[in-house]
Amino acid sequence: MATVPTFDIQLTEADLRDQLRTDVLWGLTGSRKWLPPKWFYDARGSKLFNLITGLPEYYPSRTERALLRTAAEDIADLAYGATELVELGSGSSEKTRLLLNALSRRGSLCSYVPQDVSESALRSAIDWIGEEFPQLSIHGIVSDFTTMLPALPHGGRRLVALLGGTLGNLPPRERAAFLGELHRVLVPGEQVLFGIGLVTDPAVMIPAYADAAGVTAEFNRNVLRVLNDRLGADFDPFAFDHLAVWDRDLEWIEMRLVATEPMRVTIPELDLVVEFAAGEQMRTEISAKFRLPGFRAELAAAGFAMRQTWTDPAHRFALVLAER
Ligand code: SAH
Ligand code: AVI
Repeated sequence: MATVPTFDIQLTEADLRDQLRTDVLWGLTGSRKWLPPKWFYDARGSKLFNLITGLPEYYPSRTERALLRTAAEDIADLAYGATELVELGSGSSEKTRLLLNALSRRGSLCSYVPQDVSESALRSAIDWIGEEFPQLSIHGIVSDFTTMLPALPHGGRRLVALLGGTLGNLPPRERAAFLGELHRVLVPGEQVLFGIGLVTDPAVMIPAYADAAGVTAEFNRNVLRVLNDRLGADFDPFAFDHLAVWDRDLEWIEMRLVATEPMRVTIPELDLVVEFAAGEQMRTEISAKFRLPGFRAELAAAGFAMRQTWTDPAHRFALVLAER
């Protein structure tokens, strides 16, 4: 009999507003302005991200989906005995269907725990998953995976997934802290499946973050709308241009918003006025691309062993299964 999905809000709107205040105070008052990418994802931002995943230039999603299609059975074999799939930053969970199908066929999987900071994305995902996988118990969690991993459910044998290249949105130090914390909350033998973007030709990577239709530009500007909605700021999103650059030394794509004119933006909830000079750039996201030997070393530094990797023929994206 189908069980009703449960929904656990570990991070309320009020918590999010408090965190946003801190991030804005920190990010917009220094000499080089920046905002963390998790603030893209209100309901509108999550929908824009879903549109991005279907763009011709945005190869990561379709490449990862193709990899999951070929690797899901192997992953399910390697994760044999997993009773729970915990997916961090699950978003639409759309590609996860492939994993859920393969794991369900093995018979041990009892529950799916999608986790995301975006309540709206999570709510729409658990509706269809509940209908498609009535035998699974589904437990959606609204939380922040960078700070709230210890509050994840435990008890069964978990396979954790972090797909879509989302790990690359964390800067190296935060990424190391996240991997260390993940290692602390898991028990020996539990596994993690990462979907990571690989370093490839900038002529392929840059257009993926600067599409011709301007969807990514709108996604980028959405962070300003989030500040307007949540903190009463008066940003004019159209007064900022979208920019995506490849940093060849740090090996990440950086998304920025560029002020097209001098501006004074007021943020009443913080009693703050932020000034922008014409041409001033604000960093809104890094999207690190990896090389497999370097990623193996990052995993090892956190205590994980890389068990198996799957890459596409053009070597643009990888699935990596690691064991605690
Ligand atoms: N895994 C999906 C979605 C990727 S988009 C896919 O592969 O298509 C990144 C997702 O991570 C978004 O849904 C966003 O809301 C979520 N996210 C970003 N930062 C987060 C954080 N710190 N904690 C929890 N979720 C986060
Ligand atoms: C979710 N994350 C991995 C995406 C990425 O590719 O870094 C977000 C994104 N930013 C611009 N386009 C997509």
